[in-house]
Amino acid sequence: MPTRSFWVDFVENHWQRKPGIFKNLMPTPIATAEEMFGAMRASFARPQTEATSVYVDGRHLTAAEHGAFAPSDADRDVSAYLARCAPEQEICMVIYKLQELFPDAWLRARDFLHELYGLVGMPTHANLEVFFGRYSGTPRGPHRDEANNISFILQGKKTYLLWPEEYFAQRGVATGTLGGQSWPRDLREPGLLERFRKDAIVLEAEPGDVLFWPYTYWHTVEAHPEEPTFVLHITLYNRPRAAVLAEVLAGVLQQLPGAGERIDSWGPFPGGVTRPVAPPTQVLGAFDMLRSSLEPEFVQALLTDQWMRHVSGYGFDTLPPRKQDVLPSTAGKVRTDDRYPLAWQSADGHVHVWSNGHRLSVPQTEAVLGFLGQVNSGEWLAVELRERSPLETLIQELHAVRALEWRAEA
Ligand SMILES: [Fe+2]
Repeated sequence: MPTRSFWVDFVENHWQRKPGIFKNLMPTPIATAEEMFGAMRASFARPQTEATSVYVDGRHLTAAEHGAFAPSDADRDVSAYLARCAPEQEICMVIYKLQELFPDAWLRARDFLHELYGLVGMPTHANLEVFFGRYSGTPRGPHRDEANNISFILQGKKTYLLWPEEYFAQRGVATGTLGGQSWPRDLREPGLLERFRKDAIVLEAEPGDVLFWPYTYWHTVEAHPEEPTFVLHITLYNRPRAAVLAEVLAGVLQQLPGAGERIDSWGPFPGGVTRPVAPPTQVLGAFDMLRSSLEPEFVQALLTDQWMRHVSGYGFDTLPPRKQDVLPSTAGKVRTDDRYPLAWQSADGHVHVWSNGHRLSVPQTEAVLGFLGQVNSGEWLAVELRERSPLETLIQELHAVRALEWRAEA
């Protein structure tokens, strides 16, 4: 992983400043194209259609059209997949929330980010995305997103074109914004981009390179239309304060009584109103309820829980699913990574432990307290697991959320 001195230099010169390309930063790639093809397969098995975007010959497919581009078990690799699904067409695919599909990518991204977070702080939102394609350029052309981007080139060569925030406005190019993304209008028309190409920051990227650009930068990519490319992105978001705090408040509201009740309408509204009228009692009542529920201790506990899950999940929007396998024996040694210690607290006869974005709660026992008192040293710790004891439950849960390594006792 990059050294601290790399990150100090990075923060001074690039973070919130300017794009950069870094060669030979990683002794081994953060992921392989084969692993990402595996994640692509897994993505098509997911029920959520918004978890993948597919563009064919520049057109964004509807979710109903995705099925024709699903990798099959018979596709032994990406070339076989492309020969079957898109022999002639240009194809571009984005797989969102990769951390749900490929837990190791999340663990490696966390190691990658560890020193950077120490310098720039915990993001409000982070995500992992994979761009796969065999295409001549970004289907939607130059655009801006709400995220600072760290890109790992895994396969294929790509040329990144970037322009600073004010570039298009200064030239009177009309832009549109939707859902946090902005586009200069019409730049997909042939020849139009050429006018602006000469001013672009051009980063020629090849496998092994790591790129960065701040969220303010317009960007688009050119690639070889016959060469498959895989790029893994870590996206660290920059979003408006109200939007981020609305999510924090929504988390509190979800804990209040009646949160799951459904609302069909706000009730009848008489026509012909020419003066302001009071909002419906449901709306006013919601704020009354919120006010009366907001005892400082209650809110503090809710927000602390949210925050501990956020920081122990390294700011990622979603996390890898729990492992289903159970520990193979009752006696063994366990170890945590001392960069990511377990945070814990006793309350009401229980112990709450926050790790890797999860909160685990077990009854408080001497064995549990003894374990938690020692485990954060990062040393191997011998444990005896009595079946269905609180300590056994805790260690099984910590194993399931990838918070500790297990070694069976020889
Ligand atoms: Fe983008």
